Amino acid sequence: MSEYILEIENLTKEFPGVRALENVSLKVKKGEIHSLCGENGAGKSTLMSCISGVYPKGTYEGKVFFKGHEVNYHNVKDSEKEGLAIIHQELALSPYLSIYENIFLGHMETKLGVINWNRYITESREYLNTVGLHEPPETIVSRLGVGKQQLIEIARALSKKAELLILDEPTSSLNDDESEKLLNLILEFKRQGITSVIISHKLNEVLKVADTVTILRDGKSIRTYDVKGDKLTEEMIIKDMVGRDLTHRFPERKSSPGETIMEVKDWTVYHPEYHGIKVVDKASFYLKRGEILAFCGPMGAGRTELMMSLYGKSYGSRSEGELRIKGNILNFNSAKAAIESGLGYISEDRKSLGLVLIQDIKTNIAHASLKKLSRFGIMNSQGEIQEAEHYRKELRIRTPSVDQLVRNLSGGNQQKVVVSKSLLADPDILIVDEPTRGIDVGAKAEIYDIMNTMIAAGKSIIMISSELPEALGMADRIYVMNEGRIKGMLKKEEATQEKIMHMALVG
Ligand SMILES: Nc1ncnc2c1ncn2[C@@H]1O[C@H](COP(=O)(O)OP(=O)(O)OP(=O)(O)O)[C@@H](O)[C@H]1O
Ligand SMILES: [Mg+2]
Repeated sequence: MSEYILEIENLTKEFPGVRALENVSLKVKKGEIHSLCGENGAGKSTLMSCISGVYPKGTYEGKVFFKGHEVNYHNVKDSEKEGLAIIHQELALSPYLSIYENIFLGHMETKLGVINWNRYITESREYLNTVGLHEPPETIVSRLGVGKQQLIEIARALSKKAELLILDEPTSSLNDDESEKLLNLILEFKRQGITSVIISHKLNEVLKVADTVTILRDGKSIRTYDVKGDKLTEEMIIKDMVGRDLTHRFPERKSSPGETIMEVKDWTVYHPEYHGIKVVDKASFYLKRGEILAFCGPMGAGRTELMMSLYGKSYGSRSEGELRIKGNILNFNSAKAAIESGLGYISEDRKSLGLVLIQDIKTNIAHASLKKLSRFGIMNSQGEIQEAEHYRKELRIRTPSVDQLVRNLSGGNQQKVVVSKSLLADPDILIVDEPTRGIDVGAKAEIYDIMNTMIAAGKSIIMISSELPEALGMADRIYVMNEGRIKGMLKKEEATQEKIMHMALVG
């Protein structure tokens, strides 16, 4: 038998108006960890969807061989039966079902029409142990954070006896700790003979775990590297991804903060369901004009909850404390009121909070600026198109037209639409929650450039970031949170990764 578990030959895939993949060839060795890199919209997710039956045979050209024979999958179930499991970029669990139901959903056996639930509860415990998740199998999935949900997806793949595991940006929503655990798990699978293909924009992680790296650019396979043999570096990957050298990952910016524009005192937020629990406890901070603040801390530290609560009480059952903007005490009760006072918010969860997937790009971008774009209550559709076109060029949103439905964009390009929407609303204070999640290195630099332009124009930015290099590279000051409290603050000059981590734990 061949040493390759997966072979792709000259695969071409077109969508109306877009050639997503062109003559892509790729070989994955049995037992290796193979990483797929490329800019947003390069075709990574589409390629994996073709080989796993999401796009059935006949909807693409070219050949795919799995375990030595040519595949002919009509749907995902077909590929799962053969031992191929794919974990998509956007998690696909059923939030209101339990862990074990999610693990076995769609592949439970019945006896005389009856499901033996106890058997599945017991079996799911084993898989949960393997992935290191210690939650009762009966737990409802929506109660768990993304990190844990990710592990359930993997447990689900294991329950299907996967031989080839495809992970599309598995760590994009995880913090450093969780990411490391997940990568170790994949290394452990490798020891057990399971092959993995990982799509990731986190190049340091790619180099840590991958044996082989293939780079896609504009729908074409550019090159495959042997990580050790070719002494592969992040710079080499980036160069092939973007087709040029990228000089500055964090563009330079002059920092000259002005007066205090926002001040928060003793802000406390109560849990939306368990009203006695404080999710944020007496947080106090200030923000100056022309300043970028970063909020760092482990997942669950309360950063998103704090900011969403300040943003028109969009989180929590109630809150206490004082919020001043430009000296005035404000008490917003809706996101709309917050927007009207010059606040903007880019949410971390683009799917449920940031975008309407079944609408087109221009409508989504205009969403927070309806007032600005209409006169006497009538929408100026020409203006809407112009603004959308402007951001399409500026942020390089990869799409043939701003009439494209957001659902059809690649993950990173969807994020760019979220960013465009907030920029168009032109807020004085922009809160961004994980602004560059799932965004490729080139586009990241573009978003940083735009943030810097906003600062130069006298705006202020609060950035929640789990990527410490990003916080260190961009912020003037860093607030460190943990367990609902602000543990301390560091200025750019004194901040290091070690100090931030130490502060989060010790205070
Ligand atoms: N259903 C669809 N209809 C139309 N175009 C699509 C569809 N799915 C993907 N595309 C287009 O195909 C191209 C490749 O998208 P794909 O999602 O594979 O990119 P990606 O490499 O996974 O990017 P990212 O890093 O942002 O996730 C993009 O230009 C995208 O807009
Ligand atoms: Mg993708």
